Amino acid sequence: MAVGGAGTQRRGTALVFAAALRAADHGRLQPWRFALVRENALAALGEAYAEVALTMGQDVAPERARAKALASPMVIAVAARLDGQSKIPEHEQLLSAGAAAMNMLNALHMMGYGGFWKSPPGGPEGPLRSLMGFGRTERIVAMIHVGTAKGESRDPTRADPSGFVSECQGAEAHVL
Ligand SMILES: Cc1cc2nc3c(=O)[nH]c(=O)nc-3n(C[C@H](O)[C@H](O)[C@H](O)COP(=O)(O)O)c2cc1C
Repeated sequence: MAVGGAGTQRRGTALVFAAALRAADHGRLQPWRFALVRENALAALGEAYAEVALTMGQDVAPERARAKALASPMVIAVAARLDGQSKIPEHEQLLSAGAAAMNMLNALHMMGYGGFWKSPPGGPEGPLRSLMGFGRTERIVAMIHVGTAKGESRDPTRADPSGFVSECQGAEAHVL
């Protein structure tokens, strides 16, 4: 989904974060951090996207990468704050931050806004991390571009779930 146009109002933004903080969270670690990018900061984000496209040999023209950051009025960077000392495995902490990101997208869509989950250009621990103000134990899991949905969304037909679901037989399956 492409997004552009108007972003959420203050109340909408509060609801998006309320939804994020309701994500499943093993051990109540709250292993997520968010950075809002709006107004003038979007230009800096655009420069960072363009710089990554230029220096990391990405298959994207720098001006296209820059335009991507400027197309929506707000971007929310979501990071997982990983606690390596916790008994909760790091992959569960990462999943929890991912669940927060998905809750945010669902909240945005329910309010009628558009939201798009983009990977952080340069990777989770790349140059965007410090630009967003995240620290060394934090990994960016999503750059959520927020705005109004532009154009038609893709064909909503979904695959048959039966291709992805099996039933446990109560004994070990023979994996082919
Ligand atoms: C972890 C994650 C990273 C993603 N990164 C990108 C991305 O960088 N670029 C992209 O085009 N889609 C990316 N996507 C997919 C889109 O957010 C979106 O799900 C996909 O285009 C399908 O659109 P729909 O969910 O509206 O059907 C990512 C999805 C996930 C879960």
